[in-house]
Amino acid sequence: MALVSGKQILDEAKKGKYGVGAYNVNNMEQIQAIMSAAKETKSPVIIQASRGALKYSNFTYLGYLMKAAVIENPDIPTAMHLDHGNSLESAIKAIELGFSSVMIDGSLLEDGKTPSTYDYNVKVTKSVVEYAHKAGVSVEAEIGTLGGIEDGVGSGKIHLTDPKEAKKFVDETGIDSLAIAIGTSHGAYKFKGASKLAFDVLTEIRNLIDIPIVLHGASSVPKELIEAVNKYGGKMPGASGVPIESLQEAIKLGVQKINVDTDGRLAITAAIRKVFAESPEKFDPRDYLGPARESLKELIKSKMIAFSTAGHSGDYAPISLETMKKEYK
Ligand code: G3H
Ligand code: 13P
Ligand code: ZN
Repeated sequence: MALVSGKQILDEAKKGKYGVGAYNVNNMEQIQAIMSAAKETKSPVIIQASRGALKYSNFTYLGYLMKAAVIENPDIPTAMHLDHGNSLESAIKAIELGFSSVMIDGSLLEDGKTPSTYDYNVKVTKSVVEYAHKAGVSVEAEIGTLGGIEDGVGSGKIHLTDPKEAKKFVDETGIDSLAIAIGTSHGAYKFKGASKLAFDVLTEIRNLIDIPIVLHGASSVPKELIEAVNKYGGKMPGASGVPIESLQEAIKLGVQKINVDTDGRLAITAAIRKVFAESPEKFDPRDYLGPARESLKELIKSKMIAFSTAGHSGDYAPISLETMKKEYK
């Protein structure tokens, strides 16, 4: 069984100068698609569940499905990550479910909408670091705020990360990876015109801090998927994302973790809509969830290749969480 901490995957990625996608999951088909993609491309992988996803599944269901992914794929170094935890309690709940990595998003208050103060962020982040590290679990935190209101994980206003504040935050909290705001946002409508990321800010942060850097809101919102969704009855005019080339540039400049949820949702929606439009007589869930799973697998494989994660699953011996507990002491 190759459950590893988020820190181990991201430290290896930093050393090897490649990116690792962190893919959001809500159900069995998504988890299977991501794990098959990792297996076929020999990639380490981070599967992540948001607070909303855990709540939707009554916590244990999704937790056990994610554990099944780890057990079924002993050759794939896999981190189970909590996405956008908003309190020490949410982190504890995930750690009790067996997660090996947690995010505490103290850039916003517990409502997931209101930007917090720096002092609040430091306080809540430190409380999670103290608890998680004792369990060998690594911690991601965020400084700066992303745009995009998506079910309580965005303020709607972008405040780019201040590099000096980022350095201070890392030093004061002892986190393992830092999510930064350089112009991305959650969801399928990221840019009104051309996409624009603040690579100068990223470079400055990379020069000041030594831990892995995380990019949220990193879906590319591929034109083909939007066209397929719209062709089969959807309505998503004006959707846009971060081009793959920009993500590759970000990886070159020092980003290790790339968060992707929206693109997976689009791949699934397009595939299901296609089945419904072309075969209206079908009503067995396997007839549309199966193609959705296949389409998601191909999408994730292409990301694993584009982020250069492919081929790195065997680079390192997985370290157990027990060993991590000792390392954090
Ligand atoms: O960053 C947010 C993810 O896309 C999770 O979204 O809270 O709707 O599950 P969710
Ligand atoms: P996207 O909405 O761009 O997929 O971002 C997902 C994310 O950041 C999850 O934390
Ligand atoms: Zn996010």
